[in-house]
Amino acid sequence: MTHEIDSSRSRADQLENTAETLARYRSSQASGTAEYASMVERYYKLVTDFYEFGWGPSFHFAPTMHGESLEQAIANHQYFLGDALGLRPGMNVLDVGCGVGGPLRSLAQKYGSEITGLNISEYQLSKCEEYNTKFRLDDLCHVLLGDFMAIPAQDRSFDAVYHIEALAHAPNKEAVYAEIFRVLKPGGIFAGYEWCMTPLNNLDNAEHSALKEGIEFGSACPHIVSFNEVNDGLQSVGFELLETRDRALDSSPDTPWFSPLEGNVRTLRGFPRSTIGRKVTSLTLRLLQSLRAVPKGAFEVQEILNIAADSLVAAGRLGIFTPMYFHKARKPT
Ligand SMILES: C[S@@+](CC[C@H](N)C(=O)[O-])C[C@H]1O[C@@H](n2cnc3c(N)ncnc32)[C@H](O)[C@@H]1O
Repeated sequence: MTHEIDSSRSRADQLENTAETLARYRSSQASGTAEYASMVERYYKLVTDFYEFGWGPSFHFAPTMHGESLEQAIANHQYFLGDALGLRPGMNVLDVGCGVGGPLRSLAQKYGSEITGLNISEYQLSKCEEYNTKFRLDDLCHVLLGDFMAIPAQDRSFDAVYHIEALAHAPNKEAVYAEIFRVLKPGGIFAGYEWCMTPLNNLDNAEHSALKEGIEFGSACPHIVSFNEVNDGLQSVGFELLETRDRALDSSPDTPWFSPLEGNVRTLRGFPRSTIGRKVTSLTLRLLQSLRAVPKGAFEVQEILNIAADSLVAAGRLGIFTPMYFHKARKPT
């Protein structure tokens, strides 16, 4: 199950369109959920290179134990999901919203399952395909271009389905769960990590609301849901809910999930993610933009990411938001 990606479009072409893409992203955001698909597609065209620079090929947070590297924490978070899904050789698995495929290559390599990465971003999928080939995993790892609100796959195609921080972009949770239910085989497991407001979020608190909006604006998320909305949504489309857990609580107290955004400025990989690193990048981009050395709009893209990062850190500190609400559900036989 593969889809041809036009990889002939160069990175330069992508970058030249930054200002135009940014303007369209802004106007699609103003249209709310009606424009979610173009909003997300444009957002990832703008930010993918920044993400890869700061995070590597896996675009998600992880609970971190004291002394553990970010890379190790990210891999362990992926294996927690692989174990929950019972992955093994011979299984046909769908990764919903696969990014550039860091998680799917890591899981295919560890468990030997065949994994197809679904993504609405053609830019990310062309990179995913390139890396699958580069790491000689193209026999196990495939790509599928499409919208998770209308998954281009037959009913009952997959033994297991997962997502890592991707359904935060869905305009309607029940509708996307119904699509996943449709493509999953009876008895199959669906598990993932969802971005959620926790029970500590107070709807009447102006600071909480502003932080939620900052995360939604800076991360192209139409609406961040509560734990109950995830649980009820899964059950309303027919899933049996087997397990839920906020994995943010699994971090050591001194290394909360958002600590990479506060950053370790002493390491090369940590610097661009850190508060200082993000400021330096913004200033550098502003200068380079005025010299026309980077595409118009690059500075504003970094500013959008800064709003997201600052809101994520503040909401994380208050405990009102988690990017890792683990949910595991089964399609009845
Ligand atoms: C935060 S990234 C996570 C990527 C990946 N799961 C990872 O952990 O590296 C969210 C991903 O969801 C994809 N996505 C968002 N909306 C989508 C949609 N409607 N259909 C398919 N993919 C979508 C984005 O393009 C992006 O790759």
